[in-house]
Amino acid sequence: MTIAVPGRTATAAPYLPWNRPSIGPEEEEEVLDTLRSGWLTHGPKATRFEEAVRDALGVQDAFAVSSCTAAVHLGLLAAGIGPGDEVITPSLTFCAVPNAVVQCGAAPVFADVDPVTFNLDPATARAAITSRTKAITVMHYAGQPCDLAAFRTLADEHGLLLIEDAAHALHAWRDGARAGSVGDLSVFSFYANKVITCGEGGMLAGRGDLVEQARLLGRHGIDSSAWRRHGQRRTADYEVTVPGLKYTMPDITAAVGLRQWQKLGAFTAARAEIAATYDQALAGLPGLHLPTVLDGVRHGWFLYPVLVDPASGRTRDTVAQALLEVHGIGTSVHFTPVHRLAAYRYLDTHLPVTEQIAAQQLSLPCYPAMTAADVQRVTDALHALWR
Ligand SMILES: Cc1ncc(COP(=O)(O)O)c(C=O)c1O
Repeated sequence: MTIAVPGRTATAAPYLPWNRPSIGPEEEEEVLDTLRSGWLTHGPKATRFEEAVRDALGVQDAFAVSSCTAAVHLGLLAAGIGPGDEVITPSLTFCAVPNAVVQCGAAPVFADVDPVTFNLDPATARAAITSRTKAITVMHYAGQPCDLAAFRTLADEHGLLLIEDAAHALHAWRDGARAGSVGDLSVFSFYANKVITCGEGGMLAGRGDLVEQARLLGRHGIDSSAWRRHGQRRTADYEVTVPGLKYTMPDITAAVGLRQWQKLGAFTAARAEIAATYDQALAGLPGLHLPTVLDGVRHGWFLYPVLVDPASGRTRDTVAQALLEVHGIGTSVHFTPVHRLAAYRYLDTHLPVTEQIAAQQLSLPCYPAMTAADVQRVTDALHALWR
């Protein structure tokens, strides 16, 4: 993969991107094996990937799909969420969940986040519940799980569906519960920059009845998978029982995912080591707020998010610009709040904590392909900017 290198920088060092996937010969061999096998679409490898995720989470079922967005869309459709329904969601997240809610004909209701973890706040979610609310979606920001126990209780008290957007948290725990194992449904992303990747891909996991319905909806509404029909040598013999969509993960993609899955523990350990180095090296820079990890959390460290307090005389944007232009270091922002995006401004939502975090937040490079020298380059650059 060629990484786009932004224009001129003042450093001779090669551009250090914000993120870069770690793909090895194992993934290459598994893809070749698939290409040579005669079966390219959703089949034995996608099924093995589903079983691995299902068993690791200890949930009833999992369905490998083309993206996390597809998983959300299918999960909402499977749960029967539609016109007249409301779904509570954080705004400090990617647009995938709110977009899928709208695509189902339902309305997203944005609630504010906790200022320490940047996760949806159970109290603000509770306050947003109305007679139309059907579901709460939470997102485990950066890889630190939200208060899963509180959200489970809240959802059960009000008879709501709990959906975990675990796109950042494939390998994270809170009070012994793994992210993705508590909701009625959980969704994961294997997009190119994610915890593990297969380029594009996602997983829907959770309650057996809902995942089964999602599986039906995600393969056109056809009552039996192509792989099973192939096994029975009756490929043309099928029925469409509901008008569905096409969201299945092909085996070419699952081949990459299976090999990445085997590396998940090592990847998380590498991310945690980088985070520990940042914690130590950046502590004490005035106005640079480092992430707080709550007791009982095993953080997945998909992101290393810092806040730049403008009272320090710098802003997030001036720091990002100097890191790029002077030091050749890429960063990212998570996120522009969804309620501030053009498609959602009509809602006229105001979320003070979300807006304050979004104005100051910067994601530093934190991924397994980074060397110790790369990490030091980032910390040295920040120290230089703070001098
Ligand atoms: C929190 C979150 N949810 C969902 C998604 C969507 O994932 P995908 O691109 O696999 O649809 C992303 C992608 O960046 C994300 O960050």
